[in-house]
Amino acid sequence: MKIVILSSEATPFAKTGGLADVAGALPKFLSKLGLEVKLVMPFYREVRKRGLLLRQVLEDHPLDWGGRRETFSVWQGSGDSAFAFFIEKDEWYDRDFLYGTPASDYPDNGERFSFYSKAALETLKALDFAPDIIHAHDWQSAIALAHLEFLHRENPRFKNTRSLFTIHNLAYQGLFEKSLLAEIGLPDSLFTMDNLEFFGKVNFLKAGILYATAVNTVSPRYSREIQTPEFGHGLDGLLRKRKDALFGILNGVDYSAWDPGQDLFLAARYTPSLLDGKADCKNDLLETFGLPLSRKEAPVIGMVSRLAGQKGLDILVEALGDLFTLGATLVILGTGEEKIQNALIAARERYPSFLGLKIAFDDRVAHKIMAGSDILLIPSRYEPCGLTQMYSLKYGTIPLVRATGGLDDSIQEFHTDRGEGNGFKFEDYSARALLDAARRAIKVYDKKSTWDRLIQNAMAADFSWDRSAREYLTLYQKIAGL
Ligand code: ADP
Ligand code: GLC
Repeated sequence: MKIVILSSEATPFAKTGGLADVAGALPKFLSKLGLEVKLVMPFYREVRKRGLLLRQVLEDHPLDWGGRRETFSVWQGSGDSAFAFFIEKDEWYDRDFLYGTPASDYPDNGERFSFYSKAALETLKALDFAPDIIHAHDWQSAIALAHLEFLHRENPRFKNTRSLFTIHNLAYQGLFEKSLLAEIGLPDSLFTMDNLEFFGKVNFLKAGILYATAVNTVSPRYSREIQTPEFGHGLDGLLRKRKDALFGILNGVDYSAWDPGQDLFLAARYTPSLLDGKADCKNDLLETFGLPLSRKEAPVIGMVSRLAGQKGLDILVEALGDLFTLGATLVILGTGEEKIQNALIAARERYPSFLGLKIAFDDRVAHKIMAGSDILLIPSRYEPCGLTQMYSLKYGTIPLVRATGGLDDSIQEFHTDRGEGNGFKFEDYSARALLDAARRAIKVYDKKSTWDRLIQNAMAADFSWDRSAREYLTLYQKIAGL
């Protein structure tokens, strides 16, 4: 089978969040299953800075754009990255950030990602690649499925092409002015409620939901949640209409990147049978965050997160005083919305010896938190899948999560008597519920032998991409036969 993955970010090329981890791992693990996979993404400044060995495969290739002729070039990776193709258009992708500054999104994101989506399909034509499945991810590439449906259906290369649209986050929909439709070459007739119109705007994500052969979310529970008004962000009705073609596949972990036994970012490496290195990682973490080493006896709670409304930082900030009274130390690594950054900076000023904070995007520190913390906190308001809880399990760092989306699917509450479970969960979205769960966790932490048992349970969990990739293969086979 020939698969084309359209994603606006992918590790190791450019990343802002979990989408990159998924789009980076999926090609690798699908190839292991014998599929031929290509990934097409924008050639951002961040990709350019990586200094990859690249080969130009298209130069100044023409693209019809709002009635005028634009051009773009395409670069292909080499060696292990030969599956990756990068659309070069510097006026749109050669910028400091992928989607916008901490203050706001780039105002021309509609044009930027339509151009990318359209150019990606042109690239497949020019390289004469006829995929069985085009697998688009999130709103940034969703509009490619409108182009496929309305502009390329008759093209012999795409006649048998089916499509899968993966929703990683329903809250980000890509809403733009109606005038964009003409500019990107789609008919105005699509500006109806049954097509792309959404409260007076063009909704890119709708293109994925409407025109894909099948749709999936990144966890089974989230596929059910988004069919309700509470989680549907205005699209629950449409999603219910497509429920027979709506699936949930839990993301996986690429253990070649997330394994404390091999992790070169760590001060020491460790395995389930030889855990000593974890204590060194804890000391190293406290040092990295400038916290007193005397705090190493107490539980360290870590958090690695985009700073966005979704992630539950408001209830965390509300709970801080009580959390520190319980004896916990907290370290947070994150970037994102200015308002949340400022709230955290203020909290650090208030609790300097209890709260370590880094406002940065830093993969190295993310790994140090996975290893050096005792508990990883994810108090999300909603969470389509969540990857950090699955990473932290492998590091013997116990997830404390809100029971929503993929967090609920991957974490089971620990039962002291039976010794079963891999973490702690709370239901209500409130500081009080978060604190109750933290109290339960710290109580177990204080009983060393029980905590050790919990660490063993956590490290034994297997969320490898091998399993998720096989589920994608089964879904591809199903939709290719539709
Ligand atoms: P989301 O995609 O909603 O941000 P996920 O849990 O799926 O949440 O994925 C987050 C990914 O981004 C993880 O790989 C995590 O380690 C990484 N990450 C998030 N914030 C940072 C940061 N500030 N520095 C380094 N890595 C980060
Ligand atoms: C999104 C979601 C996150 C998920 C990630 C990868 O960014 O917020 O829950 O894990 O995509 O699928």
